[in-house]
Amino acid sequence: MNFRDIIKQRRTIRKFKQTPIDKEILKELVDCARLAPCASNKQPLEFIVVDEKEICDKIFENTGWAGYIAPKGTPKEGERPTAYIVILVNKSRATKWIGHDVGAAFENIVLAGWELGIGSCIIGSVKKDNVKKILNVPDDYEVDTIVALGYKGHDSTVVDNDETVKYYMDEKGDFHVPKRPLEKVIHFDRF
Ligand SMILES: Cc1cc2nc3c(=O)[nH]c(=O)nc-3n(C[C@H](O)[C@H](O)[C@H](O)COP(=O)(O)O)c2cc1C
Repeated sequence: MNFRDIIKQRRTIRKFKQTPIDKEILKELVDCARLAPCASNKQPLEFIVVDEKEICDKIFENTGWAGYIAPKGTPKEGERPTAYIVILVNKSRATKWIGHDVGAAFENIVLAGWELGIGSCIIGSVKKDNVKKILNVPDDYEVDTIVALGYKGHDSTVVDNDETVKYYMDEKGDFHVPKRPLEKVIHFDRF
């Protein structure tokens, strides 16, 4: 797969095979995240890799899934993520661009993951205080976003559609994700 195919074919995955992800692969994903661009090169992010079943279960309880189609988009026991990368913000290094820094880091994780055959779901719906306690995160760090990971358990395809933003799941459990067509979002020279 060339790099642009990875970008275009990557979709959010919300059901996973239960094959564990090798620790070296998880380390590699964090390596890609740490090398992402960040404002003033402050490097405010650190990462907790979670792959122990017991802790994964606790993290799962504190995450929200597929709001548009809840609860049927929430993975059931036996299809839940096998690992998570929890993105932490070191408050003393954070700038006003922290949201951009986090976005660049999680995009590196999901794209590198896709290249390695791993599906992911970026989770912003996180009970952060609970996760902070579960993972023993010190006070000078905030839990930001979590990337849920695992080998893909369904397909997901883009549908060009400017009428709705709501993805849906078909009877097979595959996702269909509306995206605004290129012609609707591109402007040349002037709006
Ligand atoms: C910042 C951010 C937060 C997100 N939070 C959640 C979430 O809490 N739960 C969830 O199921 N998906 C979440 N997603 C995934 C989006 O729903 C998904 O990217 C969107 O529907 C488009 O689908 P696609 O990634 O397949 O293109 C989040 C994505 C981003 C970028």
